[in-house]
Amino acid sequence: MDKTWRTIIEPFKIKSVEPLGFTTRAEREQVLRAASWNLFGVPADKVLIDLLTDSGTSAMSAEQWAAVMRGDESYAGARSFFTFEKAVRELTGYRHVMPVHQGRAAERILFSVVGGPGKTVIANSHFDTTRANVEASGATAIDLPVPEALDFAHPAPFKGDMDLRALEAKIRELGSASIPMIVMTLTNNSLGGQPVSMGNLRRVSEIARHHRIPLLLDVARFAENAWFIKRRELGYSSRSAAEIAREMFSYADGCWMSAKKDAFVNIGGFLAVNDPEWSARAREILILGEGFPTYGGLAGRDLEAMAVGLREVLDEHYLEYRIRSVEYLGEGLRKAGVPIVEPPGGHAVYLDAKRLLPHIPPAGYPAQALACELYLTAGVRSVEIGSLMFGRREDGAFQPARMELVRLAIPRRVYTQSHIDFLIEVMADVSSRAKTIKPLRLISASQRLAHFTARLEPEGVA
Ligand code: F0G
Repeated sequence: MDKTWRTIIEPFKIKSVEPLGFTTRAEREQVLRAASWNLFGVPADKVLIDLLTDSGTSAMSAEQWAAVMRGDESYAGARSFFTFEKAVRELTGYRHVMPVHQGRAAERILFSVVGGPGKTVIANSHFDTTRANVEASGATAIDLPVPEALDFAHPAPFKGDMDLRALEAKIRELGSASIPMIVMTLTNNSLGGQPVSMGNLRRVSEIARHHRIPLLLDVARFAENAWFIKRRELGYSSRSAAEIAREMFSYADGCWMSAKKDAFVNIGGFLAVNDPEWSARAREILILGEGFPTYGGLAGRDLEAMAVGLREVLDEHYLEYRIRSVEYLGEGLRKAGVPIVEPPGGHAVYLDAKRLLPHIPPAGYPAQALACELYLTAGVRSVEIGSLMFGRREDGAFQPARMELVRLAIPRRVYTQSHIDFLIEVMADVSSRAKTIKPLRLISASQRLAHFTARLEPEGVA
């Protein structure tokens, strides 16, 4: 467009719609009781606006649905594989491309190849499935985010960066032989969906090359990261998102992607590396668990949809709208006095329950209590990232997590600005009643990944 307008519009029109799940307060109370105050147990039909995750929840485009019809479902050597391989190679530049059914399958394969006891993987921050797969191989996972990443109240442009001094010190301490890879997660989901700067990525790459340690990228949200670089980093404002993405990939030796995020698909992912030996070993494991290397646990139509999505996501009208709409939610919440992780991330706004509910101690699960109140008030579903997810209950002793956050993850191309305005109104209402929100008590939980299955109830309920 030739003139710059103040209003950034959704850069699409809608061809196919789904109804929202309207419920009454009485119904929601009953649903929440039946789900034992765990939002994973709530049927999606009873949710008005679902912000549980941005993963696999995108709206595909007409071009993606058209590509679905072009899917070649041959077992070996399907045309759809070559279309997909070409799209991944053009984007990343990496030689060996393996489709997998989702991100964690790539993680399991990769760490089976290079992990193992005595090894340590260092990241800006491992996502929880990444950490679980590193640890399942017998290796140790260490996070070295920059210190400002943990200061939620204060904004900084690139809170996804790696702490370079800590990285060098850790390599000196452990020796490069015991570090099979360094990982950069773009954007950093575990700590607020914050971006990594090109400058930091370049320096991490130099350090990794100097010590002959491979650098791998976890690129679930690479396009959002590229857009932040364009907007915030000196020297990139006139470069295209595609060029910026290519530069990001050029600093690493390979990557894996949960395509359920920035490739707009409902299922899919891939692993792409340059090293022929890693590729050969990964393919053996791929065949064992996922399928033949030209389909990797997916249908040909899924490969076609991913190939289209990987190009579509770099459309700058889309990226501008995407980042702006999440920021708009953040601004509205800030104006309403709701404490959030600053600045808003690329795919989500994170509410800071520690600051909103100071009367609830970590053992009363403040972020889960807030997420439940949001559901009760208006049928909005979010996810707790706090002591329910990360707190430890080993030997009966409770150890709180270092954060008590509620993530409002925004599915791609699904909700419009009026949904966002509605969310801001709902959160302002919840926030005005913050003092009345009651702590929760844990009734039962499994040892691992407790947040999926935990059962809770409000304090004071017999
Ligand atoms: N890496 C990152 C940075 C992720 O955010 C995720 C998933 C994965 C890897 C694993 O990919 O789900 O396809 O197996 N994140 C989802 C979320 C689950 O809600 O943030 P997957």
